[in-house]
Amino acid sequence: MKHFLDIDQTDPAELRGIIDAAARMKTARNGRPRGAPDDDQPLKDHMVALIFEKPSTRTRVSFDVGVRQMGGQTMVLSGADMQLGHGETIADTARVLSRYVDLIMIRTFEEQTLLDMAEYASVPVINGLTNRSHPCQIMADVMTFEEHNGPIKGKKVVWSGDGNNVFASFAHAAKQFDFDLTFTGPPPLDPEGALAGLYTVERDPHKAVAGADLVVTDTWVSMHDPQSARERRHNQLRGYQVNDALMARAKPDALFMHCLPAHREDEATSSVMDGPNSVIFDEAENRLHAQKAVMRWCLGT
Ligand code: CP
Ligand code: NVA
Repeated sequence: MKHFLDIDQTDPAELRGIIDAAARMKTARNGRPRGAPDDDQPLKDHMVALIFEKPSTRTRVSFDVGVRQMGGQTMVLSGADMQLGHGETIADTARVLSRYVDLIMIRTFEEQTLLDMAEYASVPVINGLTNRSHPCQIMADVMTFEEHNGPIKGKKVVWSGDGNNVFASFAHAAKQFDFDLTFTGPPPLDPEGALAGLYTVERDPHKAVAGADLVVTDTWVSMHDPQSARERRHNQLRGYQVNDALMARAKPDALFMHCLPAHREDEATSSVMDGPNSVIFDEAENRLHAQKAVMRWCLGT
């Protein structure tokens, strides 16, 4: 069973194959209306369940559109509206859904929910974000980097801000795609210990960003963080805002990424987000292409 649970759980050669397939599929669609089907229909007669226990714009729409372009059908399910949100176990939910659908994508809170879904489902499961990681996002980000600036191998990537779930998937990708990752942020918001060794730490953001090929940030308060932590986090992270002064320390052709949604003028200024180095909307588009390739890999189609 080929689940797509995390970048560090997937073989580097397979990850490379997914990125290359995504690029080929994107090129093949050049100039077509979004709703036009792909020439080949690798998900014909396939039904895909998209389960959301947290809000989503990009993940929800890009998976839904991607399945339809490939000839499949989707069912978008809110965790709260399912029996899952009223006490039915993940294990039972997984076994039931496997009788109806060919593929399950889930966005949830605890990583254990995703792991239980994968353990008990008899169809492939894709991680659409948990409190701990967001692998589909970083597949799109690697694809985006390489579209603009060539192979990511050996490049310097700097993360400024909260050591969160999106950072974790960047750390996994640093190992699998062999790039150099620096974390700059306040000690209370360091990445989880399990990621140690996958990145280096530089507390001074201006030193960290020196010579960077890619600068990345994300929201200061994630969906799973308590709103009561908002003010404290803002105070801790203010010095790590990605602004023009910080970007000026990176290489002139350095890219700026943010998975979105963003809080403009908090973690990044609009001058950077809308500036010449920003590729934030290419990242969003590439969610579509990267995830189509992930789904084909899972299904072997
Ligand atoms: N980047 C991302 O996953 O966005 P959504 O929360 O809108 O899906
Ligand atoms: N770190 C963010 C990413 C959203 C796509 C969150 O988990 O809310």
